[in-house]
Amino acid sequence: MQLIENQKVMITGATDGLGKKVALDLAARKAGVIIHGRNPRKGESVVKEIREATGNPKITYYNADFSVLDEIGMLAGKLRADQGRLDVLINSAGIGPGPDGSAWEESKEGYELRFAVNYLAAFLLTHRLLSMLRDSAPSRIVNVASAGQQ
Ligand SMILES: NC(=O)c1ccc[n+]([C@@H]2O[C@H](COP(=O)([O-])OP(=O)(O)OC[C@H]3O[C@@H](n4cnc5c(N)ncnc54)[C@H](OP(=O)(O)O)[C@@H]3O)[C@@H](O)[C@H]2O)c1
Repeated sequence: MQLIENQKVMITGATDGLGKKVALDLAARKAGVIIHGRNPRKGESVVKEIREATGNPKITYYNADFSVLDEIGMLAGKLRADQGRLDVLINSAGIGPGPDGSAWEESKEGYELRFAVNYLAAFLLTHRLLSMLRDSAPSRIVNVASAGQQ
């Protein structure tokens, strides 16, 4: 097992909530942290905030809207091209029930929105990064879920 400071950890949905907190914690422990989000301006601001808070320069940002499956394919391609290794993938990006928990919403591609963002996106990204994770073994995949998603 690599020392934490030699590990590269990607956290999806790291621009807010749980993902951001985990990113901050891992950055403070000197890991290389790959932050994912869907809003480049917010993403760059989170990178700046975490670098300043921890003094860790190894923080990078990648953008992809998880309601669009094509964007996930492109994200995985960029990660494979840019990053030599990936020790941990934490799938934390997700959306809650919204103001009206019974409302039906669809992604542009016609999938039920929460199914697309909370499930399909993480599955596809993980699938596309599996060879990279295997090459970095012993590696880990952490899926964050919610009883509410049922
Ligand atoms: N909060 C709870 O009580 C709770 C309970 C059980 C499980 N969970 C699970 O824990 C995980 C994190 O939840 P949280 O409370 O930390 O949520 P959060 O604070 O709302 O953060 C969600 C993260 O996912 C990103 N995201 C949302 N939609 C996206 C999309 N279409 N494409 C790309 N990124 C997107 C958000 O980006 P923006 O910053 O741009 O919004 C943010 O970075 C979720 O999987 C959730 O189901 C949460």
